[in-house]
Amino acid sequence: MAFIERYSRRTRWFHAGIYVAVLVLLATGWWLALGREGRPSPLARVTGLADTTVHLWTGWGLAGLAGVAVTVGVRAAGTFLVESVRFRRGDLRWFVRWPAAVWTGRFASHDGHFDPGQRVANLVLTGCLAVLIGSGVGLAFIDGGIGFVVLRQIHRWATFALTPVVVGHIVIASGILPGYRGVARSMHGGRLRVETAKRVWPGWLHRTQNR
Ligand code: HEM
Repeated sequence: MAFIERYSRRTRWFHAGIYVAVLVLLATGWWLALGREGRPSPLARVTGLADTTVHLWTGWGLAGLAGVAVTVGVRAAGTFLVESVRFRRGDLRWFVRWPAAVWTGRFASHDGHFDPGQRVANLVLTGCLAVLIGSGVGLAFIDGGIGFVVLRQIHRWATFALTPVVVGHIVIASGILPGYRGVARSMHGGRLRVETAKRVWPGWLHRTQNR
């Protein structure tokens, strides 16, 4: 069976750091948004810390990872953005066929590093995370008043926008849908089946094999 590498070990560790932080932030953030601040969440009980403390410390961790991305990882971050904003007219056909292809695996062809759906998800995820980090850092420094109220509202709405996209990303990337079977290996383990790459990222596979 033939395999191909899609992401370096460093990229896979970076991705893991981001998603652990985001999952902890979503869990503690939703706990606070639902007004449960007085009751410790399971995470707060395990760590012995208040939910607000777990949230804030993890928030600083995420802000730190974003800082790494825009400094030492600036080239990779630039490539990620360029590959995510690049759309062609033919991608429309990919979207039309997508609902059925999720089950059959017969996706329309595209030549991106990411498929067109992934590109939309990448942009929404990155945009929401940037807003959450910006407003979160603001909330950490402001004690009250109108500034806090506005930032809190922005922080909440960005959470509402981010949540369904994260859930969709997890469902698709886990490979439980028949069309996306095998894709989890692309970020976990590092070795992806060539047959999976041909189905989901045909243009990227062609370019990589002919380098
Ligand atoms: C995935 C990223 C994040 C999500 C989903 C998220 C979500 C939330 C939510 C839903 C709340 C509750 C708002 C309310 O009370 O209605 C909250 C509060 C807060 N967040 Fe975040 N957040 C994220 C990242 C961050 C970051 C990066 C920071 C700072 C570095 C941060 C700092 C705060 C602070 C200070 C509060 C107020 C806590 C309090 O009430 O004392 N958050 N967050």
